[in-house]
Amino acid sequence: MEKQTAQPLNFYNNEPEREEFMTAVIAGLRQSGKELPCKYLYDERGSLLFDKICELDEYYPTRTELNIMQQYVYEIAGRIGRGVQLIEYGSGSSLKTRVLLDNLSDLAGYIPIDISKEHLLNAARKLEKIYPDLKVQPVCADYTKDFTLPDDIHPTAPRAVYFPGSTIGNFNPEDALDFLKSINRVIDNNGVLFLGVDLKKDPVILHRAYNDRDGITAAFNCNILTRMNRELGANFNTDQFQHYAFFNPLQGRIEMHIISLENQSVRLNGTTIHFAKGESIHTENSYKYTLKEFAGLAEKAGFTVDRVWTDDDTLFSVQLLRPDGYRS
Ligand code: AVJ
Repeated sequence: MEKQTAQPLNFYNNEPEREEFMTAVIAGLRQSGKELPCKYLYDERGSLLFDKICELDEYYPTRTELNIMQQYVYEIAGRIGRGVQLIEYGSGSSLKTRVLLDNLSDLAGYIPIDISKEHLLNAARKLEKIYPDLKVQPVCADYTKDFTLPDDIHPTAPRAVYFPGSTIGNFNPEDALDFLKSINRVIDNNGVLFLGVDLKKDPVILHRAYNDRDGITAAFNCNILTRMNRELGANFNTDQFQHYAFFNPLQGRIEMHIISLENQSVRLNGTTIHFAKGESIHTENSYKYTLKEFAGLAEKAGFTVDRVWTDDDTLFSVQLLRPDGYRS
């Protein structure tokens, strides 16, 4: 990975290229069931809209997770241990991370990893001001693919991987298993995985969380059309598409779609893509787990569930996992 010396920060850039976005979009929209990888929701505007989602009344996950962390922070910090190298997948604005940064002792460093470059850099710059003694090494990367950690990462500090927000829910269960296995390899023995997992609950609560009255989630979802217009020279008429999100109880997931309101065609890189009235582009899944289901997944990936914390209404869980064979 190239280290960019022009950046004031210790920054590692592995941002996906436009070409990669183009290839993924063409492949996804040519299928009979159209879909786009949800990671492309996070351009700069998408990341800002996501931050607004996190503040919505209807969107319970962020505040619930933050409350759980604040309530149990001493126990959490104690179990994570001191002197760890903190590595966060999908760090975004690093909002919840501050609870850890404020309470973990003798941190060896913090590596926020995110696909959204400007957003990541802004967050990292802020953290450097607030925590002048902390070694912050932002990595812009698509962590669903292979990428390398900085080569000057602390060689012996135990690694604490942080994966908040229930972003694990974006993976289907098979991919979630592979992803957890890959994190297990990153951690090695006396490290931990500390993550947020959203739980199965009343579908009405779920529905509201992805259909907020201010239309922020709709704007976040449909922003991917604007992004394709800007970055790929497509000509989506955004007025002719609509956000549609629902809970699918058979799959145990929220599905987010963009529905074509007309029969229409869109031009993209010399090809034409047809949309029938009512046809969807599937843009995201957000799987919800029972505690038992998630424990089963964690165990299959070679983890032992050390501790699970939840809120009183068991809306959300925060979990500490250790690789099997951990040495205390
Ligand atoms: C960032 C994947 C956890 O699934 O709740 C929020 C993304 N999408 N509203 C989620 C999201 C629509 C979010 N994750």
